[in-house]
Amino acid sequence: MDKILIEGGNRLVGEVTVSGAKNAVLPLMAASLLVDGWTTITNVPSLRDIDTFKVLLRHLGCEIESDGPGTMRIRTRDVPVPEAPYDMVKTMRASVLVLGPLVSRFKKARVSLPGGCAIGARPIDLHLMGLKKMGAEVSIEHGYVTVTAEKLKGAKIYMDTTTVTGTENLMLAAVHAEGTTVLENAALEPEVVCLADALNRMGAVIKGAGTDTIRIEGVRALKPVEVRVIPDRIEAGTFMVASAMTRGNVLLKDCPLHHLESLSVKLREAGAEIAEEAGGVRVIGDWPIRSVDIKTIPYPGFPTDMQAQIMAMMTVAGGLSVITETVFENRFMHVGELKRMGADITVDGRCAVVRGVKHLSGAPLMATDLRASASLILAGLVAEGRTEVSRIYHLDRGYERIEEKLKRLGAKIERVKS
Ligand code: UD1
Repeated sequence: MDKILIEGGNRLVGEVTVSGAKNAVLPLMAASLLVDGWTTITNVPSLRDIDTFKVLLRHLGCEIESDGPGTMRIRTRDVPVPEAPYDMVKTMRASVLVLGPLVSRFKKARVSLPGGCAIGARPIDLHLMGLKKMGAEVSIEHGYVTVTAEKLKGAKIYMDTTTVTGTENLMLAAVHAEGTTVLENAALEPEVVCLADALNRMGAVIKGAGTDTIRIEGVRALKPVEVRVIPDRIEAGTFMVASAMTRGNVLLKDCPLHHLESLSVKLREAGAEIAEEAGGVRVIGDWPIRSVDIKTIPYPGFPTDMQAQIMAMMTVAGGLSVITETVFENRFMHVGELKRMGADITVDGRCAVVRGVKHLSGAPLMATDLRASASLILAGLVAEGRTEVSRIYHLDRGYERIEEKLKRLGAKIERVKS
């Protein structure tokens, strides 16, 4: 298994291009199940989660071609076995995104129920509640959920928790339903808007994506289109924090700053300079870093997917920071590892109190989940001495060649086989 070795202490300086967003590609791939023709997706990053989704789509019977780097073409003529097996769902929860389109177009889906994961219980009850409201029959047996519907019907669906993939799944299901579906308390994330825009270009009639009420008028058939994936706000945010915390000066190209307002406010409060210029977004870090309090909430609030990275930054800030995680109940797995580097963090339920220390010291560390892995790498960039991060398969799920990008910015970092 690969490891990442980092020799801390270098400022990051230079330019980096933000890749396409993983969390936008996956629902677009699921959307291709709705069309009887080639869907072309461009600006696709090379990531393990996307490879896993490809395996799942091929398992379902889809044809997938790649037209050079960053472009993927998918065609779904028929789905002989509409089933997402345990092995695939357990490696990537977003596999449940096939549920909506499969029921909608092929009348049946059998998907392994995702269990809890490293960051929380993460049920899919709201996905299932919505499908039931649309007239589907839902049964759970042997760890699998089977959903059937001769024809889904439009419905008013209120989700009592904001769920990103839940909103996407129901939107995908509602596109072919009979009549109008209204999703209330829908997720506002840019990836939801990216999916709605793509579906509308395919011929769907979706209004209100990006607000908490989405209206979908069912249509008979969609046509294949080419869609470009939006840039990854979480990858961009990770590089913004990396520049800020290393006293760096980094120009981020293709940076979706308009999707990163909550992070930008906090980074500026912490002392970083963020400026838009012709070629992209420049982030200049300054020391001492000022401590800031953070509370994760659904978009446009501070993203839970940036919580671990900002915590790494706060471990070397000049005061006390309170970080509250409201989206997932167990998303502080990185704390134990950061403490092994000398960070001073106390966790009480959903709150972490971080007292900034003068320096972190490099240590052997274990990545526990995707964003936690990124936070350990950021900590390693400012730590004294050598940090060794293992179990980096988590990192490869969502960051495209992060060590190469950091290296080009001046970090002493390498991937080694162990
Ligand atoms: C998506 C993102 C993930 C991000 C998360 C929150 C993708 C592929 N993944 O995950 O990177 O961290 O949004 O921004 O886009 N919940 C329920 N019942 C449900 C569904 C969700 O109670 O049926 C709860 C979850 O347990 C969690 C909260 O709702 O506490 C938000 O989860 P959700 O938005 O669904 O996360 P994902 O869509 O899985």
